[in-house]
Order: sequence, then C-alpha cells, then structure tokens
Amino acid sequence: MNFREITSDADIQAAVPLMSSLRDRIREETFLSEVRRQQIEGYRLYGAFEGDRLVSLAGVRRTHTLARGEHLFVDDLVTSAEDRGKGYGQALLAWLAEESARQGVARIHLDSRSTARGFYEKIGFAFATSLPCSIDADNPALRRRNEKTSAG
Ligand SMILES: CC(C)(COP(=O)(O)OP(=O)(O)OC[C@H]1O[C@@H](n2cnc3c(N)ncnc32)[C@H](O)[C@@H]1OP(=O)(O)O)[C@@H](O)C(=O)NCCC(=O)NCCS
Repeated sequence: MNFREITSDADIQAAVPLMSSLRDRIREETFLSEVRRQQIEGYRLYGAFEGDRLVSLAGVRRTHTLARGEHLFVDDLVTSAEDRGKGYGQALLAWLAEESARQGVARIHLDSRSTARGFYEKIGFAFATSLPCSIDADNPALRRRNEKTSAG
C-alpha cells in the first residue's frame, strides 16, 4: 500500500467513481472543476493505492477557525466497496495524521455519518455533543422569525 496526493487532471478524474459512491451529487463532467475550485480554498485529495489501484480516498482541508484553531478537516473519506474492512481507511487516516503532525497541525476534525461512527470510535476519535445542522437559505421558517422580530 502507498499513499499520495492526487493532483493531475487524469488522476482526479479517475477518482470520480469512488467519490460518487460517497457523494451522490457528484457528476463526472463537473467533478474536476469542483475539485480545482475547492483547491483554491486549501482542499486536497489523497489516496491509498495498491499498486496503481485507488482503494481509499480522502478529501481534506488544512484550516483555522476561532472555535478549533489550526486543524485538518476531513471532508470526504471513502474506501471502495470491495476493499472495505481491510484496513485501508484507517491506514489512510493514520498517514494523514502523521503528515499533519509533522506540519504542526495537532488535531483532526470531521463530521461523521451515523453509519461510520463505529469506525471512527474504533480509531479513537472522540465524538462531540454538538451536532452539525443545516437549512435551505430560502426556507420560509427563517423569514417567519424575522417578521416576528420586526413586528415586536
Ligand atoms: C467508513 C469507511 C471509510 C471505513 O473504511 P475501511 O477501509 O472499510 O475501514 P478499515 O478497514 O480501515 O476499518 C478499520 C476498523 O474499523 C472497522 N470498521 C470499518 N467500518 C466500520 C463501521 N462502519 N462501523 C464499525 N466499524 C467499522 C473495521 O472492521 C476495522 O476493524 P478492525 O481493526 O477490528 O479490523 C468505509 O466503510 C466507507 O467507505 N464507508 C462508506 C462511506 C462512508 O461512510 N464514509 C465515511 C463518511 S463520514
């Protein structure tokens, strides 16, 4: 097994099947431009390979927030369906952690799917009590709140 950053157009494009197995909104024709756009903001793709075969894929950002300070955020992590449970996901995270520590980035954060929680717990990730949440920007519920404020 070897690990490396995925940088060329051809290699990024070759990661489409694996990334789209994780993110169903991904389209083959727009994937490369989306990755290139995110790279401007620090996003990087890394792979674990058996020879030339991509077996596990991670999309990460080195970033800094007031809440967390400097950290590595793992946006995407997926192992190909036929290779799951063979240690690739853990090995890729361990390699990323080693690289991060070497660069002085002391902590790794991510949002876990409920189905992957056991995996992260096994590795040693601590789960926060806060939960990620989101809303559509045009959700009328947001405006109802504003109307109440201006009426009052
Ligand atoms: C979650 C995922 C990335 C794990 O990758 P993987 O290569 O299969 O994981 P590993 O083989 O390195 O697993 C390490 C250990 O965790 C265990 N494990 C793997 N997935 C698990 C899960 N979902 N729940 C509980 N334990 C799990 C493995 O059995 C292994 O245990 P062992 O050390 O006792 O043998 C992979 O299952 C996957 O791609 N899932 C679908 C996409 C996904 O949910 N990604 C995470 C988004 S947050």
